[in-house]
Amino acid sequence: MTRATRVGILTAGGDSPGLNAAIRAIGKAAIGHYGMELIGFRDGFRGLVEDRSVRFGLNRMSGILTVGGTILGTTRDKPHRMLVDGKVRDMTEVAVANYRGHELDALVCLGGGGTAKNALRLARAGMNVITLPKTIDNDVAATDATIGFATALGISTEAIDRLHSTAYSHHRIIVAELMGHRVGWLTLGAGLAGGADVILIPEIPYQVDSIVAAIRRRARRGVKFSIVAVAEGARNADEDRAYKLAQAHDDAAATAEEKAAAEAELAGLDAAHDEHTLQLARQLETLTGLESRVTILGYVPRGGTPSPVDRLLATRLGSAGVDLIRDGRYGVMVAARGDTTEPVPLDQVAGRGNNVPVDHPWVEAARHVGTCLGD
Ligand code: F6P
Repeated sequence: MTRATRVGILTAGGDSPGLNAAIRAIGKAAIGHYGMELIGFRDGFRGLVEDRSVRFGLNRMSGILTVGGTILGTTRDKPHRMLVDGKVRDMTEVAVANYRGHELDALVCLGGGGTAKNALRLARAGMNVITLPKTIDNDVAATDATIGFATALGISTEAIDRLHSTAYSHHRIIVAELMGHRVGWLTLGAGLAGGADVILIPEIPYQVDSIVAAIRRRARRGVKFSIVAVAEGARNADEDRAYKLAQAHDDAAATAEEKAAAEAELAGLDAAHDEHTLQLARQLETLTGLESRVTILGYVPRGGTPSPVDRLLATRLGSAGVDLIRDGRYGVMVAARGDTTEPVPLDQVAGRGNNVPVDHPWVEAARHVGTCLGD
């Protein structure tokens, strides 16, 4: 008698709403529909390396569709550079050994661009891997959508809506910071949907003078409040130049020492950027004479119940992923393509990302409705 197909699953990287909906879809399709076995690894790749696993039954897949976070837990650990006993070590072989020890036929990794990179490494080390794209940042290459973005967009838009009435009542500028370290999809989307007056994203370096001019134009029309939606990674033109230079050093690094130096340079710039939103609000207050306040949304858009759009996406991608396993199709990410899904080879995803094109229709629409983009 042949044994049932045995599938491993883990969630890696920052959590996002809809992860449990995806786990449920994979579990219900794998166990319930195809009679496969499902083993979950806790806390991302760390759980695979440390062999902390849980055998899932069909019952565990009930009641999690609407639950935020991930029942498996997550970390940002990478198998090839994992802190173990105080030292950074390459644990790829241990991960492969545990995969084999469980006699897995496939491993499903739910994660963003970093997870796709790690999954590709594991695929090259001999594992049958597929990934599902998730992140509130919407910055995964080769997919129309990522699990979590729609929910985060809804929550962030509601926050901007609510900030309007208080900004208006107090005749204030409110600078609302949203997540998006490297990309501005969330800030641009929520800013547009919420009618922010100024939207600042990493892809479009800003000049404070342009923002001040836009706020003054509103004040001249008698509108004494403004909402500035700023991505945490938005930079002014000077910061942007320094950052691009450091990034070029990182890309060109040929030795481990050069790589470490470039990464330290980038980390230094990130640290200097930490208080960026507070500084911007202070600058705007000084230059416009309008009282300014800051609201940092932080992790709020990442938590809680996934929206219907994310539940649907997670269910579609999860179910399609199990079909790929049934067909023995590995080394791919299950991408969303319109109403359907498509397996995309991981080497076309890893290391690519998805920035906001500066001529994207959302950018054009923002300009057309008079939103200042800081440039
Ligand atoms: O998952 C991506 C992201 O949402 C970024 O926008 C943000 O910079 C990052 O997570 C922060 O997450 P953490 O503090 O969990 O690493």
